[in-house]
Amino acid sequence: PALVVDFGAQYAQLIARRVREAGVYSEIVPHTASAEEIAARNPVALILSGGPSSVYEDGAPQLDPAVFELGVPTLGICYGFQVMAQTLGGEVANTGLREYGATDATLAGDGGTLLGGQPADQNVWMSHGDQVARAPEGFEVLASTRATGVAAFADDERRFYGVQWHPEVKHSDHGQQVIENFLHKGAGLPADWNSDNVIAEQVERIRAQVGDARVISALSGGVDSAVSTALVHKAIGDQLTAVFVDHGLLRKGEREQVEQDYVASTGVHLITVDAVDTFLGHLQGVTDPEEKRKIIGREFIRAFEKVQRELVAEAKSDGEKVRFLVQGTLYPDVVESGGGTGTANIKSHHNVGGLPDDLDFELIEPLRTLFKDEVRAIGRELGIPEAIVGRQPFPGPGLGIRIIGEVTRDRLEVLREADAIAREELTRAGLDGEIWQCPVVLLADVRSVGVQGDGRTYGHPIVLRPVSSEDAMTADWTRLPYDVLSKISNRITNEVREVNRVVLDVTSKPPGTIEWE
Ligand code: XMP
Repeated sequence: PALVVDFGAQYAQLIARRVREAGVYSEIVPHTASAEEIAARNPVALILSGGPSSVYEDGAPQLDPAVFELGVPTLGICYGFQVMAQTLGGEVANTGLREYGATDATLAGDGGTLLGGQPADQNVWMSHGDQVARAPEGFEVLASTRATGVAAFADDERRFYGVQWHPEVKHSDHGQQVIENFLHKGAGLPADWNSDNVIAEQVERIRAQVGDARVISALSGGVDSAVSTALVHKAIGDQLTAVFVDHGLLRKGEREQVEQDYVASTGVHLITVDAVDTFLGHLQGVTDPEEKRKIIGREFIRAFEKVQRELVAEAKSDGEKVRFLVQGTLYPDVVESGGGTGTANIKSHHNVGGLPDDLDFELIEPLRTLFKDEVRAIGRELGIPEAIVGRQPFPGPGLGIRIIGEVTRDRLEVLREADAIAREELTRAGLDGEIWQCPVVLLADVRSVGVQGDGRTYGHPIVLRPVSSEDAMTADWTRLPYDVLSKISNRITNEVREVNRVVLDVTSKPPGTIEWE
């Protein structure tokens, strides 16, 4: 793979995505990885990410200098550019000249391998206080800005490249081209990574991992589990049983959609487990979001274990149990749960951080290295209908983390109705393609005074959280048309008795997360 070395900014994921968009498979490694560890992963290229620190400060994240002796083509971005400059004998300094946001960059000469063919003046996205004051020996300066003499450099001989700006963000005019030039011209890599390859590779891997054992798959109705289940089904056919757990935290009509549409289109053998009482029983009195997530994650697994026992009993075979469980874990779930790159644990995504320690399954996670749009492409490739592949994300813990406060049957009923109205109106307005998702949240412990008919009401607010995003790692609130908001608000306050107020969440991510819990 091309390895993105993470220096602790949220940009590493975005870089990894852009590299894949360029047709080169990428993974993220922490900057603490040694040269041997990096070499062991057979990197075809390295990209050093941005980061929040100053390279010359004590304790600033560094890179094992031996990494630069591996002979691997390397691109440094922002902080990574400075690390590269400093490690190879250049100079990084704080000149007091900062650049944030859109900045004019001017090419020096023809731009070389990295910037060749681009306009002499272009708009790039900057975010730095320090700068490379002097490029290391052997490097040619490719671009500068008003405040930064060395804004991009290259050493074609060693195939080392760097840019001070962020080519991975869309605000940089020719950003993607910088990444592609590095990968295809600098590192000489072909653009040959695509969903066909992923399917073939995963099918082979799954067959090798499973042999002729029986497997169960956790199906939630969401895109991720739908695709992972179909992928495993393609690999091992009837050795797979899909299990859909109705935990009572589902949206309106969801169970029926899975039981009918998905099964009809894939031919997967499905068991539905009705676990509503169990889940709601365990959630009684619980208000802490992490505790809710842990309980839901644990009860999911308990439900699967129960199916596991029943399947064994039913088969009356030699008693060999179902050892494998398929989950639709994605790359961002892994990273955000603190797995892999040493990032902080922000939330316990139920299918990663929330697993109990005594898990009695070996996991099959065929999407563990993929981003959402890649999963959708694979789903389409596998022939899953658009109604399922195009679905907006819905969290595994379901409505349980969209009720702020204790989860009860009555509150679920209220939220389910409000959510169904919001979804219906968004679809009717043709906005599904524009928004990434729109969580509908019930503030169950908040009440406000209202007036309806002739009387005073004292009801709960519903929050609409429409967001636009590329991969859920960052998001902005969607500017929905007022008339659509108005329609949703009117309908919810009229049709859902306990709700007398609808409010709009206008927070981006960061600082807010998409879900409220
Ligand atoms: P946050 O709230 O972390 O959400 O900004 C990012 C994306 O992940 C979804 N999400 C989850 N998906 N299990 C899931 O399968 C979970 O526990 C979970 N929590 C959040 C969320 O809907 C958004 O798309």
